[in-house]
Amino acid sequence: MRLDQYMALCLGHPQHGYYMTRDPLGERGDFITAPEVSQTFGELIGVWCIAAWSAMGEPDTFNMVELGPGRGTLTSDILRAARRLAPGFAQAASVRMVETSPVLRARQADMLAGQGTWHDRFEDVPAGPLIVVANEFFDAIPIRQYERRGGRWHERAVGLTDDGLTMGLVEADFGTPGSDGDIIEAAPARCDIATIIGQRLAQFPGAALIIDYGHAFSAPGDTLQAMRRHRYVPLTEAPGECDLTSHVDFEALGKAFRAGGADVMPVITQRQFLLAMGLEQRMAKLTERADAATRSMLERQMTRLAGEDQMGNLFKVLAATSPRLATPYPFGRS
Ligand SMILES: C[S@@+](CC[C@H](N)C(=O)[O-])C[C@H]1O[C@@H](n2cnc3c(N)ncnc32)[C@H](O)[C@@H]1O
Repeated sequence: MRLDQYMALCLGHPQHGYYMTRDPLGERGDFITAPEVSQTFGELIGVWCIAAWSAMGEPDTFNMVELGPGRGTLTSDILRAARRLAPGFAQAASVRMVETSPVLRARQADMLAGQGTWHDRFEDVPAGPLIVVANEFFDAIPIRQYERRGGRWHERAVGLTDDGLTMGLVEADFGTPGSDGDIIEAAPARCDIATIIGQRLAQFPGAALIIDYGHAFSAPGDTLQAMRRHRYVPLTEAPGECDLTSHVDFEALGKAFRAGGADVMPVITQRQFLLAMGLEQRMAKLTERADAATRSMLERQMTRLAGEDQMGNLFKVLAATSPRLATPYPFGRS
């Protein structure tokens, strides 16, 4: 079975898929995401969304879309910030959650007190102006891997032997030059989603903000990983019980948005984004009336989100907009 097929089944099988059967987030789950680390993450993204809405001409109604919203914390924090800073934005927002997991849909509905409409795919979001946010969504979209051996490319696949599930290689027709030992990842499903969003941004005023772990420029390497209870495990260890993800190739993702017709800003790190958006100032405000224990918790949260050896540099931020839309700070146009 091809790797992308294996990944799609492990994560999304209606009965046994990892995301379909559980809420994997949090200390007691398998991993923690930035919106779960601190409310400031979603608030600062909220400020960015308000700036994008202004650049769009403050439409009376627009689709506020989140892809793969987990517990719904990011959208909830965006809307809370907007109610304080730009009530017009909050009133105009038609909240659209793109989510396949019934378990997580229920958590999101609780978090948003039912405010929202749920869709299986981005394509189902109705036409019109839009703002799209996605944190740790694209890393969960299935990928394919090619490995160079004996001067030829092979595709990595999963098979069943007497020892159980095993990774193996099958013949592949893959044209890229390479040297023995190289592994190249391709994510056609990921690129398809980006191109479809890019097409929407070319048709209607809007902007998209994509945050994920990955690299700004395409490079060979094996980044596929399985995680269970905050630890890495072999890919075939427990299908449907582990989170399978890979690093996002932001150069390829940017090209896919452009292919759809969107403008794409140069990729920056999560650290650059959050500091430019005012992370330190927001944390200082929260610290003002906090006791010592809360203050040290806020400090730890800030280090976790923006620390160079933590999420700060590993996570990248890509912004795509409708052509010629004024670039929302802090991105420069490429
Ligand atoms: C790693 S979680 C991230 C959750 C959230 N964005 C956060 O930052 O806390 C991945 C999310 O994407 C959803 N998801 C995974 N594959 C999906 C797909 N093909 N279509 C829609 N949602 C998907 C999962 O159910 C989950 O909500």
